[in-house]
Parts: sequence; structure tokens; C-alpha cells
Amino acid sequence: MTREALRMNRQNDDWIERYGRIDWRDARSAHRQCRALARHIGENKALLSQLVNDLEVDEARFARCEMHPLMYRLVLHEDLGQEYQVRLHVVAEEARDIVPHDHKYTFSAYILAGGYLHIWNRRLGAHEGDFTSHDITPGIVAIERRGAAYTFRNSLIHQTIMTPGTVSIFIRGPKSQSHWHAAKDMYHLLADGYEVPKTGGKNHKGGRRLTIEEYRRVREQLVSQGLIESRRILDA
Ligand SMILES: [Fe+2]
Repeated sequence: MTREALRMNRQNDDWIERYGRIDWRDARSAHRQCRALARHIGENKALLSQLVNDLEVDEARFARCEMHPLMYRLVLHEDLGQEYQVRLHVVAEEARDIVPHDHKYTFSAYILAGGYLHIWNRRLGAHEGDFTSHDITPGIVAIERRGAAYTFRNSLIHQTIMTPGTVSIFIRGPKSQSHWHAAKDMYHLLADGYEVPKTGGKNHKGGRRLTIEEYRRVREQLVSQGLIESRRILDA
């Protein structure tokens, strides 16, 4: 597919115009807007199939996809003006993200398949920045499953254990702090391939570029889970 054809395809989709404005300054508004956007994509098999299958010919979007130590990250849409990305996070094997951590950005998640144990921790000391396991305590323990949606402010701290086959729409908001933080006394428990948080403006390598073989593997997984069709169906 040519770049022009891809552009025309996008013009035919009004979903970005309808759902794409997100007010990241207010977490409640961001949550409502992200949930509507994620639901629209996640519950529309034709659209999700198109967005995943087009990656094979959309070089710019493909270049932004990543193999992360815990999951595949497929970029479905990127809004450079509003600085957010809509991704599909796909877990193939059990993924244990057990070191309490925050994020550089506020994000929103909408679960399409599988599920995970999700511990939201409360900070006992500073509201943001560095911490150890002694500075936090579990606040909410939740089971996130199909249909669940939540929005996580950048300074919040969590842990997750995801079951194989967990798939979610993940909307990453604008960067809110220079780097992420993890419990300093638990770095040794970070998953293989994870770098400890970097300070001083250095880029943290959260993942590496996805290869075409990995892309085809994850697409196959999504087809076998019934989440997408193996070909584009909007043109049919
Ligand atoms: Fe996280």
C-alpha cells in the first residue's frame, strides 16, 4: 500500500476526530475520553484488524512498535500534537512486573483479553519521586479483566502480574516527569532485559524495535484469540 493510500484510508476514518481529543490536564476527563477511544477501537474488530494489519506496510508506524521485556507493543495511532500514543499491548507468556514503579506519563488501559493482578500502592512519604518498598503500602488490589478500564496518574505506583494472552489498548499520555522510578531496594527483581531507571535526561531503553518476524508472530496470536481478522476487512 502506498503512503497516499494509507493517508486516504485514514481520511475515511472519522474515529480520530470523534474520540481523539484528550484533556490530559484533568485525570477524570482523560479517563472518560481514553475509555471512549479505547472502547471504539477495541470493540470494532474491523478497525482493530485494519490498524494491526496495516502495520506491515506503514513504515513510520511500524518503526515505533517495540518488543518490550514483558510484552509486544504495537502502535495503533500517534498524535504528535497532543503527545499521546494509542498502543496494543500483547502478552504472550506470563509477565511479572512485580517491582513497584511509577511512569513518566499518565496512561489509560482498556482490557480486551486475558487479565491481570494489579496492585495500586499508596505512598506513605513524598507524593512523587524516589522511593523504596518501605515508603509504600498496598492500596487497592484489583483483578483487571476484559472490559475493565482505568487511568493511572504518572506519580502513582503499581505492580502487575499478567496472564498469558493478556491484550489491552494502552493510551500513553504526554511525558510528565523526566524519568520513571522503581523501588530502589528491589532493582534486583526487575525482569530480564529491564534497565534500572535512568536520571539526568538519559533515555531509558524500555524496549527495542520490533522485527517483522515478531510482528507476524504477535499478529498470529491476535488472530488465534479471535481479536482480529487475518486480513483487512474494511475494504470488503
Ligand atoms: Fe507500570
